[in-house]
Amino acid sequence: MDLRELLSRNLSCPIEENVSLAKYCTFGTGGKAKYLISPYSALDVVRIMNAREQYHFPLFFLGNGSNVLLSDIEGVVILSSGFNYADYYECKEKNKVIIEVGSGHLLKSVVKESIRRGYKGFEFAVGIPGTVGGAVVGNAGAQGIDVSRLLLWVECVTTDGAVIRMDSNDIVSGYRYSSLSESGCFITKCAFEAASGDVRLIKEKCLEYWSKRSHQPYAYKNAGCIFKNTSNYSAGRLLDECGCKGKRIGDAEISSLHANFCVNLGNARVADIKKLIYECRDIVYEKKGILLDFEVKIFGF
Ligand code: EPU
Repeated sequence: MDLRELLSRNLSCPIEENVSLAKYCTFGTGGKAKYLISPYSALDVVRIMNAREQYHFPLFFLGNGSNVLLSDIEGVVILSSGFNYADYYECKEKNKVIIEVGSGHLLKSVVKESIRRGYKGFEFAVGIPGTVGGAVVGNAGAQGIDVSRLLLWVECVTTDGAVIRMDSNDIVSGYRYSSLSESGCFITKCAFEAASGDVRLIKEKCLEYWSKRSHQPYAYKNAGCIFKNTSNYSAGRLLDECGCKGKRIGDAEISSLHANFCVNLGNARVADIKKLIYECRDIVYEKKGILLDFEVKIFGF
């Protein structure tokens, strides 16, 4: 039995073949996935993990595609869009709010709903694109705060097909890092703790944080910051000081608004973006002696 047959016999969700990933990535460009699967249940993810034990294919998890640069993937891409829900529980006695949310739910929807209901905690996340699953795996953050601060637990499917729940204390988190990223686990859902607050104050904070993003480029497709900041330097400032703003290969350009953003002016190819960002990384290394670490995940061939 070949892989296609095995997957379609066992899974109860759509499987697409030879799919362009461009529309699934905020860069607006991407290679092809041999198989793109959109499961709705943890059970289907278990079945994919089990099939992988047998066939050893490359496997990539995709949320909103807002932090990735993907070439061709000769294997399986699992889309988390089927895990799209959020439940809000108020624990009146302590002003505590528990938010249980599917990995494919957008973080900005949690932010928006929290503002509407007057729950504080997620203000820092205003403007962060991407799904909750992606945010948890990459420990997304802004304003010096990150999602690990609010995380209670994560439910995921492990590489050997077990569905487990991990307490946030068992997950190592750092700046744009969580140990989940190395585990190979697929997150199905997680829970956050927020608190009841004053809607007016929450809105004010969100507006303050939002205004700090005014120098980020929104007119063109992009994948947020390309590089992580170092412990001492802002990657954007380093790239700017090294003259990277405005550098261009094909339709890929380093934004003149913020040097840590690479924008797609229209028809950028993955190869253009890749070449440009590696070139800029080399320039910073030559001029400053600092090797920047990618925040964007580059995957595929
Ligand atoms: N700067 C420059 N030139 C530039 C860009 C920035 O001189 O081209 C300077 C700024 O003037 C400022 C400093 O560098 O003094 C820091 O810049 P900024 O305030 O824009 O913050 P950042 O460190 O570049 C981080 C996150 C962003 C997040 C903002 C706001 C990282 C890699 N980036 O940017 O996150 O939106 O703070 O909190 O941590 C992302 O993760 O995709 C992202 C965009």
